[in-house]
Amino acid sequence: MPEQPVQPEQPVQPEPSVQPEQPVVLITAATGNVGPHAAAHLLQAGARVRALVLPDDPNIGRLPEGVEIHRGDLGDPDTLDAALDGVDGVFLMWPFFSLPVDSAPTVLRKIEATARRVAFVSSVGVHIGLEPVDNNCHAYIEKLLEGTTLEWTFLRTTGFHCNSAMTFADQVRTGDIVRFPYGAATRTSVHEGDLAAVGAKALTAEGHARKAYLVSGPQALSQAAQLQVIAEVTGRELTWEDIEHDAARKAMVDAGWPPSYADGALDYFETLTRTPEVGSNVVEEVTGRPARTFRDWVVEHTHLFH
Ligand SMILES: NC(=O)c1ccc[n+]([C@@H]2O[C@H](COP(=O)([O-])OP(=O)(O)OC[C@H]3O[C@@H](n4cnc5c(N)ncnc54)[C@H](OP(=O)(O)O)[C@@H]3O)[C@@H](O)[C@H]2O)c1
Repeated sequence: MPEQPVQPEQPVQPEPSVQPEQPVVLITAATGNVGPHAAAHLLQAGARVRALVLPDDPNIGRLPEGVEIHRGDLGDPDTLDAALDGVDGVFLMWPFFSLPVDSAPTVLRKIEATARRVAFVSSVGVHIGLEPVDNNCHAYIEKLLEGTTLEWTFLRTTGFHCNSAMTFADQVRTGDIVRFPYGAATRTSVHEGDLAAVGAKALTAEGHARKAYLVSGPQALSQAAQLQVIAEVTGRELTWEDIEHDAARKAMVDAGWPPSYADGALDYFETLTRTPEVGSNVVEEVTGRPARTFRDWVVEHTHLFH
């Protein structure tokens, strides 16, 4: 399938990028896919950067030099006090897959007591009305933030480039066939570093308060087309084979997915075989740099496929 340009959906005016003083910014869920990029962009923007990491987090090495490490658990808000002391902004990510939202109201009250700004990594699911407020963390946390005095910015992201690439990588390393559901599902996935750059801008520049941005990559690509990009970049012949919906659901639940998330994801992918995912030019409009393509991501990470 040819790579299709994404239609602009939400015009954003570029903003000045420098704040007079050096803001102190805390990143939560800091050692995942987005956090290390967010840390690098915030440091580059002149912020003092703190990372909230679990007491036994083995991935602190992913964070760039110069980041202050604070041990704490979003599920136990009293452990956050030192990390939040004196912060101006929070790059907020909620690891919804492993952490229920019970502690979110208390965490947000603590953030509101000290910080001025929050950039919250939300989801395209909220943007298109797929996430009910009572059944998924992103819509729920957006609602909580709207009820605070904080200057929030919602980063309603599509999937990350790393999701599909990492999902396919194991199968690419061990064979020439990739089996996965809904090869025709067409997404506008975004480079996780570009998402991080938008959030860093929202926390260090004026003009992003109370904005909900749809953050996507620059193209709509089917999953099968993404696999062909991997094939071209790595010089391999790779074939896509669809797994049926029910078999895919069973495999996901067996692998630990909550059944409601497995159903939500598979139903969404089914709709994307008929209607490509929405997209935007927010990355370029906010950061001034073009969003990186899926091919760019694969070229940066070819070692994962060998
Ligand atoms: N992936 C997508 O396509 C997608 C789409 C829409 C929205 N999002 C949002 O994007 C966010 C960022 O994703 P990501 O992949 O960078 O990270 P993530 O997978 O959500 O978070 C992983 C990080 O959270 C830490 N963590 C887990 N439980 C914690 C707790 N109780 N307290 C503090 N930290 C905890 C993990 O530490 P350990 O490694 O030590 O466990 C790890 O550093 C997600 O939270 C999600 O809400 C993602």
